[in-house]
Amino acid sequence: MSWGKFCLSALAIFWKIATSCDSGMSSGMQWLVSGFSWAQDMRDPVCSTPLIAPMELVEREQALAALISGLASAADGEGRVALLAGEAGIGKSALASRFAAAHRDTADVLWGACDALFTPRPLGPLRDIALHMQGALLTALEADRDRHHLFSLFLRGLRERKRPAIVIFEDVHWADEATLDLIKFLGRRIAAVRALVILTYRDDELDPRHPLRSVLGDLPPETTLRIPLQPLSEQSVMSLARNAGRTNEAARLHAATGGNPFYVTEVLANEGAGVPATVRDAVLARAARLSPSARETLDVASLSPGGIEPWIVEACTGCGAAGLDECVSRGMLRLVRGNYVFRHELARLAVLDALSPLRRRELHRAVLQPLRSRPTSPEMLARLAHHAEAADDHEAILEYAPAAGHHAASMGAHREAVAHFAGALR
Ligand SMILES: Nc1ncnc2c1ncn2[C@@H]1O[C@H](COP(=O)(O)OP(=O)(O)OP(=O)(O)O)[C@@H](O)[C@H]1O
Ligand SMILES: [Mg+2]
Repeated sequence: MSWGKFCLSALAIFWKIATSCDSGMSSGMQWLVSGFSWAQDMRDPVCSTPLIAPMELVEREQALAALISGLASAADGEGRVALLAGEAGIGKSALASRFAAAHRDTADVLWGACDALFTPRPLGPLRDIALHMQGALLTALEADRDRHHLFSLFLRGLRERKRPAIVIFEDVHWADEATLDLIKFLGRRIAAVRALVILTYRDDELDPRHPLRSVLGDLPPETTLRIPLQPLSEQSVMSLARNAGRTNEAARLHAATGGNPFYVTEVLANEGAGVPATVRDAVLARAARLSPSARETLDVASLSPGGIEPWIVEACTGCGAAGLDECVSRGMLRLVRGNYVFRHELARLAVLDALSPLRRRELHRAVLQPLRSRPTSPEMLARLAHHAEAADDHEAILEYAPAAGHHAASMGAHREAVAHFAGALR
């Protein structure tokens, strides 16, 4: 978890504790809540956004302009639904937060989130908002009133506000069924409401049958703003690296992270070499949600830096296409010219690092077998030597490492040639 995410969670938990205490809040708690300026902000009845210090965001001018135009329409009485989409760590929350912080003097900000629970809370985001607003909506939620009543109350609350509202539903790829219904309900009525509803979601985690797809597809196009977020360019990564005093790492950093801002900022915030713990945790949390066969597929794929062929995965795991398809639809792997590669090199390293030495050796052996069963081309020698060494298979090392060394030397890659010969001698 990044420091920013940790702070968000801590603030949200603290706020929930504080508000759940309500009149029974201890004097110590009251002092705590009133003593900090951020806590006062959290009690502000028109802003439930977890506050984080607005950070400088690079390459997000267009996305911010789209949100600003959506809010302008909302202020004129024609609401909008903005779809803020992109892979994990691309900066959806940072952008929504930044935008909300910039406009909270002129608009009411209502923030709620879906959680990655195995069984999501029904109407999680609406509950977050109601907890903050208190009043009729919270009472109705606590009394388990039917959905239509709750949705109507919420809509009425939006219509009766003096100022336009910015409503943020975070991470709707994890939305429960009732929240999806709420999105449909709002989407159909937003044209006559002074509100900008921002939905953030990971678009690379929506497989074709994901229920959010049809909900979003049915939103009226004339009131829907689609704002896909792209990875940062090499130039922006360079400028972030320069600010961190690590200019010479910029090109490598861009290659390893694919311009994903979460990975970029975490690596830059981390003094040591290797995969930062925050990145590792985020990647492994996503991997943990895969089915066992997809997880095994991912483990096997992590052994091959240049990507892996489906027939090798099939031979090693017996999982076949289903495991690979799941890894692709959950945004972990992508298909490039017939090979499956990790979307980000850092994610591959995080998965690889998580394998125990024994398991890693076992999997390298499993990969080596089908690779050896096919005719060897000179280009394959380095790869065979790599798996042979990691599998600690002496016979295979002696067969492939010197041959790979000679091939590298013939291509003028002398440093690689030396490494292969050294491998054969070990
Ligand atoms: N445009 C940007 N410029 C600089 N840093 C950024 C930018 N966008 C995001 N970041 C950094 O990346 C981190 C991750 O961003 P954020 O949490 O918003 O991603 P996300 O898309 O919401 O991810 P998730 O899907 O996991 O919720 C932020 O804490 C911030 O440090
Ligand atoms: Mg987020």
